Amino acid sequence: MASNRTFTMIKPQAVADGNMGKIIDMIITGGFNIKALKLTKLTEEQAMKFYAVHSERPFYNDLVNFMTSGPIIAAILEKEDAVATYRNYIGSTNPKDAEPGTIRALYATSMEKNAVHGSDSDENADIESDFFFSEFERF
Ligand code: RTP
Ligand code: MG
Repeated sequence: MASNRTFTMIKPQAVADGNMGKIIDMIITGGFNIKALKLTKLTEEQAMKFYAVHSERPFYNDLVNFMTSGPIIAAILEKEDAVATYRNYIGSTNPKDAEPGTIRALYATSMEKNAVHGSDSDENADIESDFFFSEFERF
């Protein structure tokens, strides 16, 4: 059975563009319950660890630089079949392919600066949630 939780980040470009409120509003309007939320800034070490799965990819260094360039919002979201439902709601990685009305179609500015992160599996949702939140910061 699919887990009912996923993890998201609002990426530095979307925060810097002043869109964090609109994106949080879309998350709530989309029926996702926020179970944890924080504004924070990743260190280089944290970003490298978070994206370690991409360490061999050509875009890894740029991605780490981008993700440490300013504050991000981290959040745990709850909804039925949360991982798949949220990835549909945010749209494709490349905003050119993102369905109209999705978060990335509305707020991404490039493949890299694509507004939000969404976990790609239940297992990674748990790992990523634990990476950012202690048991006292979530409910
Ligand atoms: P995310 O992990 O952020 O939710 O995005 P995703 O699953 O849709 O995409 P993924 O393949 O996991 O890539 C992680 C992030 O790396 C950046 N990226 N840049 N320049 C490029 O070709 C490229 N490809 C990926 C994006 O910020 C992507 O979200
Ligand atoms: Mg991914």
